[in-house]
Amino acid sequence: MSDNQNSLYKKLKKYSRSKVCPMHMPGHKRKGTMLKVNLPYDIDITEITHLDNLYSSSSVLKKTCDIIQNLYGSKNSFMLVNGSTCGILTGIRAATNTGDKILVARNCHKSVYNAIEVNFLNPIYLVPSIDVATGINNSITPKQVEESFLENLDTKLVVITSPTYEGVMSDIKGIVEIAHKYGVPVLVDEAHGAHLYYTKNSAVSYGADIVINSVHKTLPSLTQTAIAHINGNLISCEKFTQALKVFETTSPSYILMSSIDACVRLLTQKGDKLFNTLYKNLTCLNDYLKNLKNLTVVCYGQDNLKMHSGFYNFDSPKIVISTVGTSINGMQLFNKLRDKFKIELEMAYTNYALAMVTIFDNKKTLKKLADAIISIDKEISKNLDNIITSNSFSLPLKAKNASEVRNQKGKLIKLKESLGCISLEYLWAYPPGIPLLVPGEVIDEQLLKNITYLLNNQVVIHSTFNNAPENIMAIL
Ligand SMILES: Cc1ncc(COP(=O)(O)O)c(C=O)c1O
Repeated sequence: MSDNQNSLYKKLKKYSRSKVCPMHMPGHKRKGTMLKVNLPYDIDITEITHLDNLYSSSSVLKKTCDIIQNLYGSKNSFMLVNGSTCGILTGIRAATNTGDKILVARNCHKSVYNAIEVNFLNPIYLVPSIDVATGINNSITPKQVEESFLENLDTKLVVITSPTYEGVMSDIKGIVEIAHKYGVPVLVDEAHGAHLYYTKNSAVSYGADIVINSVHKTLPSLTQTAIAHINGNLISCEKFTQALKVFETTSPSYILMSSIDACVRLLTQKGDKLFNTLYKNLTCLNDYLKNLKNLTVVCYGQDNLKMHSGFYNFDSPKIVISTVGTSINGMQLFNKLRDKFKIELEMAYTNYALAMVTIFDNKKTLKKLADAIISIDKEISKNLDNIITSNSFSLPLKAKNASEVRNQKGKLIKLKESLGCISLEYLWAYPPGIPLLVPGEVIDEQLLKNITYLLNNQVVIHSTFNNAPENIMAIL
């Protein structure tokens, strides 16, 4: 059992009251008064005597890592202060050598693509199919992974995102079994699933070799905090630590680390009660949403997992409200919820909007959300022309890997006139931050059609050099 008297926060507070004269960083010397902002300067310190070192922890920071290991059942866990982004970059570097081939779910976050680029890797994509009821990416299946292995026996790593931003989970146990048959490790980007340790279906429990969780996304921890877990014998903790030193700051924030510490201590002590209440409240939400006529809330009310044959499983604290078949799109729903009902959702896409629920929500907030959804459902109508057609993804042809075109000179051209050109930019919608196009890929008709469709639905498109959506840097 974790003991709060020894929490990192308590230690920092105690130090802040001590009479030790700070002749070291940070420059504010733990005095925030002159800055006239109520920020925790008093506990913002660096690696001073008795407060351990993140990269060779042996006392107070090691204790937090031990608590995390216990909670998740991992062999080794690491605290991260640069988000899952840093964990993903680190994990991919630790598991590969320059030029290696890796199997990657195409619906991975752009940090995975950045890791591929900076490590000169050769990605073979696993493309998820689309759930026709909602337009959301389906799970990556073990069969897809097996088929890719048969064609790419020199694969060195498999990278899957589960759950996705929208809560779709893949069969990690099945995927791990296949990869391990070939002696290959699996990295699961579980940025959106830090809470899954509780339901015992976390990637750690299914034997994934590297698992990355954003504790700031679904658990009560400060923004930028994340954790990484290493399991089994395919990945060496030493290599992971070495790679971590490449990507993570040499000045990790003790405020962020004490937030992870407080979070995992809370979960150790009260997690069962808090999660029990959360899932009970979600059952009530399910009941509130039984009579929707137009909107569909994925896996709630009249909808259920069986209606999405491409979902292996679904993470229920993600409330995905689909507008398919209705008179509004995802962004309009998002705006209505904010403007009329004062509910700010996590994100919106073409045909859905996403609300995230955590242990810090209560029955009242869920009822407020349900009432708003019901009210909007009544004021909109059916539009049977609003079906999933043009946002289905087809994999662009790869002319070169992203790392090979990084220094290549291109021309700035109109995106509309770029058909057949090789892109020198990433294009992505944010959220969710999944590349639609990768440098080195050939711009095709389906991509241009998809971009038009996204823009028509008010989805914002970003690109590496900020030329999108009008222009793109490309090779003619
Ligand atoms: C699937 C996925 N992985 C990784 C990340 C990066 O997480 P972080 O913001 O903690 O760096 C995100 C961010 O939204 C994400 O959606």
